[in-house]
Amino acid sequence: MSAPSPSPAAKATSADRGAFSGRTAFIFAAIGSAVGLGNIWRFPAVAYENGGGAFILPYLVALLTAGIPLLFLDYAIGHRWRGSAPTAWRRFKRWTEFIGWWQVLIALIIALYYALILAWATNYTIFSLDQRWGDDPAGFFGEYTQALGGAEATISFDIVPAVLVSMIIVWLAVIIVMALGVQKGIAASSVVFIPLLVLMFVILVARALFLPGAIDGLEALFKPNWGALLDPSVWIAAYGQIFFSLSVAFGIMLTYSSYLKKKTDLTGSGLVVGFANSSFEILAGIGVFSALGFMAQAQGVAIDEVVTDGVGLAFIAFPAIISQAPTGAGTLIGVLFFGSLVLAGFTSLISIVEVVIAAIQDKFGFARIAATLWVCVPLAVVSTALFSTTMGLPLLDVLDKWANEYGIVAAALVSTIVVTYVVRGLPTLRDHLNHQGTFGIGTWWLVCVGVIAPLVLGTSLVLSTRDLLMDPNTYEGYPGWFVFVFGWLMAIGLVVIAIGLSLIPWPAGSNLHKDDSDGDPIAPEAVAGRGLVTTPEAATPHELRSAPR
Ligand code: PFF
Repeated sequence: MSAPSPSPAAKATSADRGAFSGRTAFIFAAIGSAVGLGNIWRFPAVAYENGGGAFILPYLVALLTAGIPLLFLDYAIGHRWRGSAPTAWRRFKRWTEFIGWWQVLIALIIALYYALILAWATNYTIFSLDQRWGDDPAGFFGEYTQALGGAEATISFDIVPAVLVSMIIVWLAVIIVMALGVQKGIAASSVVFIPLLVLMFVILVARALFLPGAIDGLEALFKPNWGALLDPSVWIAAYGQIFFSLSVAFGIMLTYSSYLKKKTDLTGSGLVVGFANSSFEILAGIGVFSALGFMAQAQGVAIDEVVTDGVGLAFIAFPAIISQAPTGAGTLIGVLFFGSLVLAGFTSLISIVEVVIAAIQDKFGFARIAATLWVCVPLAVVSTALFSTTMGLPLLDVLDKWANEYGIVAAALVSTIVVTYVVRGLPTLRDHLNHQGTFGIGTWWLVCVGVIAPLVLGTSLVLSTRDLLMDPNTYEGYPGWFVFVFGWLMAIGLVVIAIGLSLIPWPAGSNLHKDDSDGDPIAPEAVAGRGLVTTPEAATPHELRSAPR
């Protein structure tokens, strides 16, 4: 009661932000975000190239020392300060608001191009029925996307009609789900799609395991090369895979945890999400390498000649596998594989769009549908106009590389340093997590977030910058100006715009000035170096306050 009382006009009302019905809904939504293309088309090749079976060791170490600890950091900030990324960071410490806007802008860029991959996967689910690529999947993909390759990349608005139609379908589906809200849209679709995805993928793996040559593929994937463990780049690759795959530092997990009830076991939920995501990743490795083993045998070549990842794996290697598989099996594998990409990608896409919607909703105090339309309609139009064109693929390629390296990785590095050393907020966050957590976190968490994560993130940033700058060729052979504009300029521009956005005053009607959705006041800013005092009266961690001086 000692706080100065606000003028009657500014008197706090409750924010209307929506909420998850409970912990299960949250866990499904968080797994939906985490399980994405990274699990299916990135993990298998990363594991194979970095020690095979031996990779499991750095991978688990990375999960336990960085993935899960950073997941807890995201959860703690979003849950304690109950807001979208800019709101929660600002309430954590006023001047850190720019980190939140930085995450929102990165999310915006990723959402623009992620929809293109989903559009391709949607079309390919149908193409698998009659194996429309015939006996030349690479040539077919080129014709289908009409993509400008390497040095030809330029700004072009030549529309590719087949892609245009599916992009419109993808965006309509996103808009419908987002308009339905946090529980009925995001959580409900994840609760349906994630079990369906697991079911489809298990059938896919079971079928792929019986293809001739599958066992050779698995042997290649799991054969341990222990020597690789002495190579620091293998460790960096493991941390990189974990960061990306768990969606930490994207602003997603922060936003989702702001929709949780106050009395929620955050640490227990984080463990479930972390291990579920990694289990799916290993399942994907088994499925993909069984199929690659079959392809190598069918073509009479060694496995390492057929291993690829990303777009090449999904849209060129898999169609070849589908065509070579026994009749019937090919169609089944095709529909299950591309259908899985669609489901896994869709639940990730909605999570990244939610980062932007939540921020706009908080900033202007909009209702759900208004915020959805203000964000999704322009996003859908720009995304469709830019990416259903012949420049779609090269643009995606460059944006993706820089949004990850100089977006996600850099934002994660800055946030861990700011939280640990500048604001010195870790003790507050630790005590918040411990109030309801099933297991206590202590010094090891502080070391993981404050020392291990920044060291690994910093090293990886330096190494990838060196690789990009020292390479005599431009990235993927794209013209220098193309890489400069859509890579470097975009990445630096986001930081500058984020700082600008954090300086714009919040309107009186914004959620910043309101109580949370339950009508309770928001916790005060973190106090440097000070933990929270546990009191028997505090029913929720939000009621805990810092120790007095
Ligand atoms: N964890 C996601 C994945 O493994 O694919 C990463 C991600 C990418 C999340 C793109 C959201 C997104 F839009």
